[in-house]
Amino acid sequence: MHKYPKINFIGNKQKIASWICDHFPSDTETVFDAFSGGCSVAFEAKTRGFEVYTNDILKINYHIANALIKNQNIKLNKKDIDIIFDGEPFNGFMTEHYADVFFFENECQQLDLIRQNIEKLDCEKKKSLAFALMRRAMIRKMPYSRFNINWEKVKQLRNEEWSYEKYKRKRAYHNQSFKEHFLLNLNEYNYAVFDNQKQNQAYNEDIFNLLDKISADVIYFDPPYAGTMNNYFSFYGLLDNFITGEITKPFGNNFRDKQTIEQQFDMLFSRLKNFKYWFLSYNNVSCPTKTGMLSLLNTYSKEVQIVEKEHIYKVTGKENKKRNTEYLFIIKNENYGRNSKL
Ligand SMILES: C[S@@+](CC[C@H](N)C(=O)[O-])C[C@H]1O[C@@H](n2cnc3c(N)ncnc32)[C@H](O)[C@@H]1O
Repeated sequence: MHKYPKINFIGNKQKIASWICDHFPSDTETVFDAFSGGCSVAFEAKTRGFEVYTNDILKINYHIANALIKNQNIKLNKKDIDIIFDGEPFNGFMTEHYADVFFFENECQQLDLIRQNIEKLDCEKKKSLAFALMRRAMIRKMPYSRFNINWEKVKQLRNEEWSYEKYKRKRAYHNQSFKEHFLLNLNEYNYAVFDNQKQNQAYNEDIFNLLDKISADVIYFDPPYAGTMNNYFSFYGLLDNFITGEITKPFGNNFRDKQTIEQQFDMLFSRLKNFKYWFLSYNNVSCPTKTGMLSLLNTYSKEVQIVEKEHIYKVTGKENKKRNTEYLFIIKNENYGRNSKL
């Protein structure tokens, strides 16, 4: 069985992906993971032989999906690795904008070299796999694994002596090179590439642009949760900047704002005629509440089922674990194939 590699995605569903897929009805053949993030659910669905479509508004998440879900057989070999790390680091976009912001200057120069070299790989899927591995490397070097930490804090947490004094952990992996991290994870990522004999697809759009263009038996939603740590642009936008060589702008329709969240869900549910079953992951600390979400869903379908599971997730370190109840709303679309909300 092919194993989901170490992605490290905030709010991922890795621990419960199997439980989620267990609930897909027996007539399911196609699954659309509409907010695919680190692809934990899409990957599980792929291993189960479904035809899987993914979408995420962030470029880096599209590349994870292109590398691990759509891709059936392209891996990175020794020659590719030589290309990626060949040459002398130089001052480019990353150095100009992010030296002493997220990484040290010499590290940014390496990022500029690596980014330029990835472009020399001979196919798009190799580039996606390289971006996914670079993401892993950049995240491992970044305290708290997200790019919204200020530089003074980054330097402090990357100081191994200080870290040992304070936490009895050196966190030496923050100071390993990009190349070391890349090579440490290479086999695992290559091995996660497999062919499930289906025409899987990866999209990189605002979900609202896709709902009329795609149809599937199951559409699975794991949006950001309003009221929790949910700013995915601030966590991972830097990776999109690395990929595009531009300062990208935060996206709208981000499911973050408590004031507008119900309207956003309503807008989403009103556009789902192409999907036989809707699956929504949710939890007990998000807004709207379970009852609020149920009332909203009931305006679209009387056939709503809620299954629950306790989910333990790590906040920052071993000491700091929280328990949430995870909900899975399962909706049979009464208007499948017709216009929704009659
Ligand atoms: C909770 S995460 C998904 C995690 C994923 N299920 C996993 O296990 O890794 C939510 C994702 O929704 C994406 N997102 C937010 N608003 C979006 C939109 N309007 N269209 C598409 N994707 C969006 C974010 O970029 C983020 O990756």
